[in-house]
Amino acid sequence: MTSAPEPPSAPDPRVVKALRDVVGADHVMVDPDLTASYASDWTGRFVGMPSAVIRPGTAVEVAEVIGLCRAASIALVPQGGNTGLVGGGVPLAGEAVLSLRRLSGITDVDGRAGQLTAGAGASVADVQAAAVVAGWAYGVDLGSRDSATVGGTVATNAGGLQVLRYGATRAQLTGLEAVLGTGAVVSHLGGLLKDNTGYDLGGLLCGSEGTLGVVTAARLRLVPPSPERVVALLAFSSTSDAVESAFLLRRALPDLQSLELFLRAGLDLVCRVSGAPPPFADPHPAFLLAEVAGLTDPMPAMAAALDSVGSVADVAIATDSTRRAQLWRYREGHTEAINTLGAPHKLDVALPAGELAAFVDRVPGVVADADARATTWLFGHAADGNVHVNITGVAPDDLTVDGRVLSYAAELGGSISAEHGIGTAKRPWLHLNRSDAEIAAFRSIKGALDPAGILNPNVLLPPP
Ligand code: FAD
Ligand code: MLT
Ligand code: ZN
Repeated sequence: MTSAPEPPSAPDPRVVKALRDVVGADHVMVDPDLTASYASDWTGRFVGMPSAVIRPGTAVEVAEVIGLCRAASIALVPQGGNTGLVGGGVPLAGEAVLSLRRLSGITDVDGRAGQLTAGAGASVADVQAAAVVAGWAYGVDLGSRDSATVGGTVATNAGGLQVLRYGATRAQLTGLEAVLGTGAVVSHLGGLLKDNTGYDLGGLLCGSEGTLGVVTAARLRLVPPSPERVVALLAFSSTSDAVESAFLLRRALPDLQSLELFLRAGLDLVCRVSGAPPPFADPHPAFLLAEVAGLTDPMPAMAAALDSVGSVADVAIATDSTRRAQLWRYREGHTEAINTLGAPHKLDVALPAGELAAFVDRVPGVVADADARATTWLFGHAADGNVHVNITGVAPDDLTVDGRVLSYAAELGGSISAEHGIGTAKRPWLHLNRSDAEIAAFRSIKGALDPAGILNPNVLLPPP
């Protein structure tokens, strides 16, 4: 963990009073003992210090807070569940934190249309549960579901474990309400599936990482439930066998919901940390975890698909929910297990399909060449071409390996951020994926929607 920075000076007491008049005295905190839990990120790599924490309870209060902060030149870092992995939601330069967690209501559930409206502070798990009650399901799922919020997942366009079937968060949006950096409230929550009436502000704000506006609510589409499920954990004797099989399975299984990749070292670490028994008697170099879900028993389709994949070295199948959860734990346990080794550098890249296997085989060498003390951990969403390159044994602020890995991914035609965003962590490398003309367009948009530059001024865009 990096050492905590010097505490920033508290905002002018008159501004604190004005903020308290808007949101209530208890919801503006300046005491470092009270603000500490908002200061550092989930991994412990990014440690900041807020000048204040402000917790509005409505969109109108958000707009008033932004107006006051704009007038007083107080920079704001919007924060939801604080599960982000790129240092975008913590006040690294003494900004004030704008916590949206109090906006947690779920309203206007429409069982006919399969839609609901969720406040920015509702968790993904809350949305999933409300969808089930309405006879539907929510298409986004991720390991941080209990803490990650609707606002945070919209702001990062979060991906997760079901992107291959339902798309990332942007694909779930049928409307959005937000407060722009100007203080204007833009609300378009009607949820019409067809609505070509100009610029798609919701689509623009989704993935903007809190740099353009503060999300206060989202109208979300729901998906039909898929109650019948099978999970298969497949072992392979090489990464390329696993990756090639992922392509085959994707084509063979229309009801494929998740297709995840991990390797022997990660599996061993998860077993060591969690105490779970290894899934197979023999060690294998690479694994795929596949989940198929539908209205009818997916087992016959899964069995036929596995028959067509010649290279499976070992297989464990789970149909009941307890055993399915056990198999999932080998994959989902990676994030927590790696964190026990010290704050990791988390690099989240996407590769073109034809480069995926070579990248997975070669990237540990790229890391070792950059820093001999570093250890590389690889896992990810195989069907999306998304590899999570986690590196331990490197100081939080040593950026050498980050630069090498991100450059290598970009050289292969890949993205330096598949799903976690740019945050503060990857700002220096945005040019690897975006041209000068694109970055200039980004700056124009930022200038129009947040002219005073008070929303997340140190996130996404590189310093001019
Ligand atoms: P925060 O961490 O609070 O903020 C993230 C960013 O969004 C920051 O830039 C912040 O300023 C901005 N922001 C937050 N709320 C708002 C708002 N209301 N308006 C405007 N901007 C806002 N991510 C994936 O994509 N896929 C995964 O599979 C995945 N799995 C994870 C598993 C674990 C165990 C953990 C810890 C994280 C995982 N993540 C994953 C990362 C993280 O959960 C997502 O990025 C999530 O979207 C962050 O939501 P949050 O509410 O915690 O946002
Ligand atoms: C995952 O897929 O598990 C998440 O994106 C979290 C991580 O990268 O650790
Ligand atoms: Zn992921």
